Amino acid sequence: MLSVITAIKDIKQCIKTLKKTQRTIGFVPTMGALHEGHLSLVRQARKENDKVVVSIFVNPLQFGKNEDLKQYPRTLDNDCKLLSHEGVDVVFHPDASEMYQDGFCTSVILERLEDKLCGKLRPGHFRGVAVIVLKLFNLIKPDIAYFGQKDFQQTVVIKRMVSDLHIDVTVKILPTIRDEDGLALSSRNAYLSETEKKDALCLFNALRKAQSLVNTGVENTEEIVQEMEKIITSCQSATIDYISIVNPETLEAEQKVHSGNVVTLAIRIGKTRLIDNIILFFIMAVLFM
Ligand code: PAF
Repeated sequence: MLSVITAIKDIKQCIKTLKKTQRTIGFVPTMGALHEGHLSLVRQARKENDKVVVSIFVNPLQFGKNEDLKQYPRTLDNDCKLLSHEGVDVVFHPDASEMYQDGFCTSVILERLEDKLCGKLRPGHFRGVAVIVLKLFNLIKPDIAYFGQKDFQQTVVIKRMVSDLHIDVTVKILPTIRDEDGLALSSRNAYLSETEKKDALCLFNALRKAQSLVNTGVENTEEIVQEMEKIITSCQSATIDYISIVNPETLEAEQKVHSGNVVTLAIRIGKTRLIDNIILFFIMAVLFM
């Protein structure tokens, strides 16, 4: 039976009870408006742990002043139905005043990581993400926490924080789930009109172009990014926030492609900002003599 907990004192008590019986806890932090991407994380957590906890919390600290905090889709009843169907044990759904009580003023700063890529255009976003994830880790005390690769910079920030602060949790990153045309699933896709949904395919097409150029031996990242820009700008409703090929740990832009680099982009389709990425790989040529 799924239990929905809203109070910090109750989630603490619940986790204490689970830990007493030495149950392992898999944790999937979310902001709700769940889709197959979230459910793929939940299913993995279900496979690998005795108990599964999912948090649903639209975290005000990770939204900028002019961003979509108010508008962000909130679909709690449907989310709980889906999670109950997946055999989730606990949903933690606090409200903002419960998570950020009067006088709250702590921040988690990830120097050199938080101000690159999305962080450049969304100042304060990754501090907001890091602090809420740390708070949730402290409350839920998971053995394994699951995140999707779609939010690539977020995964880098969280892995770094866990390592830097010696947090006792294994972080697992699972592949991006896409619809049949290749559009990465995102709660924000709900903002797109039918035409915009078609336009949004330019993100995955540009990423695929990057991989196909690497397959033909192109190594210069500037050349790859230029070809990607052509694909994006040929789509009327698209504007580029950034396209970059980066080192997967430092997020530094590369000049020459190395296997394992990540090509990452943020594109506005109309008013909706979408992100996506893929890990670039080199095809190994096997020679039979
Ligand atoms: O990826 C998300 O949905 C959020 O950034 C997270 C990790 C739940 C923190 O609010």
